[in-house]
Amino acid sequence: MAAGTVLVTGGAGYIGSHTVQALARSARSVVVLDSLEYGRAEAVGDVPLVVGDIADEAVVADICRDHGVTQVVHFAAYKAVGESMEQPTRYWQNNVANTVALIDAVTRAGADQFVFSSSCSVYGTPPTVPVDESAPIAPESVYAETKATVERILSWYAATDGLRSVSLRYFNAAGASFDRSIGEDWTVALNLVPLVMKSMILGEPRLTVYGTDYDTPDGTCIRDYIHVDDLAEAHVKALDVLGAGTLADRATALNVGTGTGSSVLEVIDAAERITGRDVPYELGPRRPGDPTATFADPSRARALLGWEPRYGLDEIIRTAYAWHSR
Ligand SMILES: NC(=O)c1ccc[n+]([C@@H]2O[C@H](COP(=O)([O-])OP(=O)(O)OC[C@H]3O[C@@H](n4cnc5c(N)ncnc54)[C@H](O)[C@@H]3O)[C@@H](O)[C@H]2O)c1
Repeated sequence: MAAGTVLVTGGAGYIGSHTVQALARSARSVVVLDSLEYGRAEAVGDVPLVVGDIADEAVVADICRDHGVTQVVHFAAYKAVGESMEQPTRYWQNNVANTVALIDAVTRAGADQFVFSSSCSVYGTPPTVPVDESAPIAPESVYAETKATVERILSWYAATDGLRSVSLRYFNAAGASFDRSIGEDWTVALNLVPLVMKSMILGEPRLTVYGTDYDTPDGTCIRDYIHVDDLAEAHVKALDVLGAGTLADRATALNVGTGTGSSVLEVIDAAERITGRDVPYELGPRRPGDPTATFADPSRARALLGWEPRYGLDEIIRTAYAWHSR
């Protein structure tokens, strides 16, 4: 099919809205479908927004027909790991069943290229770091299992319907747009960077550092923080290679991380150094299920997408601080 419009589900959310901006910058035709349960309509800017559910097959069919959709970027999902253990059905339903309804509707409408928001959590606690895509898939939560399941479902749609897909396994998305127009809403966020910002700017709640006795240089957990604009760019590149048909496999999974790990205390130090402000925090016990260290080997994404992360922790802190200070 000739290049057409990109349907972005969940495009009013955090990573989705940054990707919509990146797609608009690359002069793509884009349409967003978002229920606005978590996203914000303002975040999509001038791009057409349909407020609706991915499971509503009639709405999806109408969008595909009206906008000439050929490619889909699928962000819409729930993402709270803890909540997924307390309300598993909500996660199986939205992240898996509703995704199947979406895939069914878009493939029927003739869209055959699909980029999926997966997660490094599919690896659970990786046996070695940096982790590459050959590591065992070993989810440790319902949330992570929903991502691993959709990856497998996409492989089957490749076999049954010829759907071509790229699953991007994000590491820890963080930061905000450089023009300060969009960022991560800290009222709902559970991630470290927005919590650091909240503690620093509002003074409460104080940040808790969960666990200081891990086998890491400073005793705190290590994660791979990837700037949200770098993540957004990976989606643009994935759509490019899907459009070009250059990938050997019909379903491809790729790590999207920087390859560098930062500990919790290093993130706090960077925030204090860059902003000149104190981050009020206290030390707490380990949380069950937190792996000691995870960071990506991103060489496969580099090779197959020609994608390279441009930013590091300093830009993450700088852009997040600028956004949250507004
Ligand atoms: N934020 C991270 O660090 C991270 C890491 C790995 C993977 N992911 C995945 O990336 C995707 C986007 O994450 P985010 O941080 O931008 O989350 P987000 O909550 O900001 O965005 C998700 C958007 O999807 C919408 N949505 C949810 N269910 C929907 C439905 N059934 N129909 C229509 N819209 C629906 C929400 O309203 C929201 O705007 C998710 O799939 C998440 O699991 C995020």
